Amino acid sequence: MTRLCPIGTDLDRAASLLRDGGLVAMPTETVYGLAGDALNPSAVARIFEAKQRPFFDPLIVHLPELSWLPRVVAADSPQTRELAAAFWPGPLTLVLPKAAAVPDLVTSGLPTVAVRIPEHPMALELIRRAGTPLAAPSANPFGRISPTTAAHVLEQLGDRIDYILDGGACAIGVESTVLQLPAEGSGERPILLRPGGLPVEELERRLGPIDIPQSAAADDQANPAPGMLTQHYAPRTPLTILSTSPPVDAVFSGSQRLGLLAFRPPPCDAGRAYEEIEVLSSTGDLREAAAGFFAALRRLDKRGLDAIHATPFPEEGLGRALNDRLRRAAAKSDRTTDVR
Ligand code: TXA
Ligand code: MG
Repeated sequence: MTRLCPIGTDLDRAASLLRDGGLVAMPTETVYGLAGDALNPSAVARIFEAKQRPFFDPLIVHLPELSWLPRVVAADSPQTRELAAAFWPGPLTLVLPKAAAVPDLVTSGLPTVAVRIPEHPMALELIRRAGTPLAAPSANPFGRISPTTAAHVLEQLGDRIDYILDGGACAIGVESTVLQLPAEGSGERPILLRPGGLPVEELERRLGPIDIPQSAAADDQANPAPGMLTQHYAPRTPLTILSTSPPVDAVFSGSQRLGLLAFRPPPCDAGRAYEEIEVLSSTGDLREAAAGFFAALRRLDKRGLDAIHATPFPEEGLGRALNDRLRRAAAKSDRTTDVR
């Protein structure tokens, strides 16, 4: 039998494991992260190994406060300071010029490093006690569904890491928004590398227009967001995105056992086609939907269904990040289908 790691709230134990090059899953407001000492190349290598993550996919470095920024970033700018003041701690990751102390493994050899200050008291305290910036990708095996509770981490990575710090369920539920800032004075626009927990509208209110590249670039293309692979966040059950939300009337032939991941409650007749239905928000609230999204996808994935259908989200606010995760979860099967 495989041995699972301990799970608990012992910050000192977690910090000391991190100082010794160990791996600790930590709660953040977005998703659970798999943390290791960002300045210790062998700890960083262990993160890639535990996740079975390809080395070309760079990691996010987590800090407890802005005064730590010079430890990992070579140069900041007034724009960086403004965004930091407005949105940190919070679900925003900034891609900035990297300091020499950051191992190339963290950034996949890029001259930039992705940085954020998470908004979770246990994460902040853990980083402070560890005394070092923490590299932390989402604490799931590469390409699978992201964890939003300690139990999710235990299930997927419990035999490969040293400790899980339990900070309850993640309040936001989708990963941070990743933004690349242009060089100062270049006149170029910031680029949205990953839609996430901070709606792009809030960033645009401060920064003006942001470039939003077509997110689903092919895996083998040079991509402004390394690691934004088309297939990601994937359940084992094939997932199909419906063309309407809620599904209008679903008449299915055959004896397929279907599950529905619905943003809002579906009409009764549409609902009858499904053996299992997860409604993310009875009132159509995107925040509530995001908070429960990955957990609902996991529950459906465990039911041994033949297929999962998902309704799309409105393409605004957190809906943009949720549609992005849906598209990537569906990338193995057909992208969208019309069930009418
Ligand atoms: O909410 C989050 O961001 C979570 C929690 C744990 O903080 N972390 C997370 O990390 O989602 P991860 O490793 O799953 O996503 C990191 C992504 C990479 O896949 C890549 O798209 C982008 O951040 N990234 C990291 N470094 C980059 C860089 N130097 N240039 C461009 N993109 C970068
Ligand atoms: Mg991830």
